[in-house]
Amino acid sequence: MKTTRRGFFKTAGISTAAGLIGGTAILTPSAFAQTRHAMKMGEFDRGIIQLSQNESGRGPGPRVLEAIREHTSKRVGRGYAPDYVPELQESIASHFNINSSNVLLASGSTWLLQGAVRAFCNTDKPLVTAGPTFSTSEGTARQTGVPVNLIPLNADAKLNLPEMVAVSKGAGLVYICNPNNPSGTVHGPDVIDKTVRAILKDSPNTHVHLDEAYIDYGDPAKIQTGLALTQEFKNVFITRSFSKAHALAGMRIGYAMGHPETLSAIRGAWGMGDVSMLGAIAALTSFEDREHIEWEREENNRVKAFTVGALNDLGYEVPESHTNHIFVDLRAPARGFREACMNQKVAVGRDFPPWENSHCRISLGSMEEMEVAVSVFRDVLG
Ligand SMILES: Cc1ncc(COP(=O)(O)O)c(C=O)c1O
Repeated sequence: MKTTRRGFFKTAGISTAAGLIGGTAILTPSAFAQTRHAMKMGEFDRGIIQLSQNESGRGPGPRVLEAIREHTSKRVGRGYAPDYVPELQESIASHFNINSSNVLLASGSTWLLQGAVRAFCNTDKPLVTAGPTFSTSEGTARQTGVPVNLIPLNADAKLNLPEMVAVSKGAGLVYICNPNNPSGTVHGPDVIDKTVRAILKDSPNTHVHLDEAYIDYGDPAKIQTGLALTQEFKNVFITRSFSKAHALAGMRIGYAMGHPETLSAIRGAWGMGDVSMLGAIAALTSFEDREHIEWEREENNRVKAFTVGALNDLGYEVPESHTNHIFVDLRAPARGFREACMNQKVAVGRDFPPWENSHCRISLGSMEEMEVAVSVFRDVLG
């Protein structure tokens, strides 16, 4: 195993939560009990605790699972005009007090991100984005020859919005991920409002994309939706995902909200996939079960406090996160930590340049998973 600072990450120790003998993972008695508990809950993926993808550690709520079971019938043989898709669109529109023409569904918000770059950027109209942030928009731009203006996060691991504004004149699209992935940091409504107005004042033809994939995990005192801006400005739109707090990553559902012309340009530029009947009933049930999403937010907060507390006790800082992942400051390259954790069957996040030499993203799983993971972190970092 390669490590970057000798003695900083201990090698796979047998006296630890989980160790390696001849390449096979073994577990100490206490970790074994926790592991068995987690496995009973079906939360292990091929024996590896998956903390690398920002998926859900808990899965959808009981009402959603019941709705999926109830609708798993011969009816799935009919689905080219799937039931519940119009109802889902209507339900989103009515919740936000907008028209259904202000809502565009897609089989995952990834398609919307890709479509937006294709719709609004070209070789003369760059993409403005952050580094690191969710990389699909940047990836699409690079694939299609669109120039990218990438503004590094500031020292607090927050989007450097003034710098993003400064380079947005003439841009096709400005991508603002709030809360930001991977840092988990947020900007409040006043700052977002000021930023959007500043971009559009200098560059009225630029589009602004507010990605609110993680907003259900946010503290409402610190982050709020930018929906009002989409109603005031045709060029501003929001995307959201059912893959995070709604725990439906495997069902593939996301949506955009904005002016019908803006949504139509996104849809016209790239395929949006189809939302399936089971996906739609699952998303609809989840969307209307606000009580469960509130529970999910609180449970994620409990798991986050436990994990951040343990890392702080070990002497590592974590920027305040409003998501289901944290971005720990290891003061060393993420790679050594990742390899050491993987040797103990805990998968943490990939590199996030230009912060890969100091920070690592850890997605938050269930409490049972994090209890095992934290014992591995203690071993690796302690
Ligand atoms: C900020 C952000 N936006 C969008 C997505 C795409 O999610 P999906 O395509 O599952 O809706 C992700 C996925 O991790 C994300 O982190």
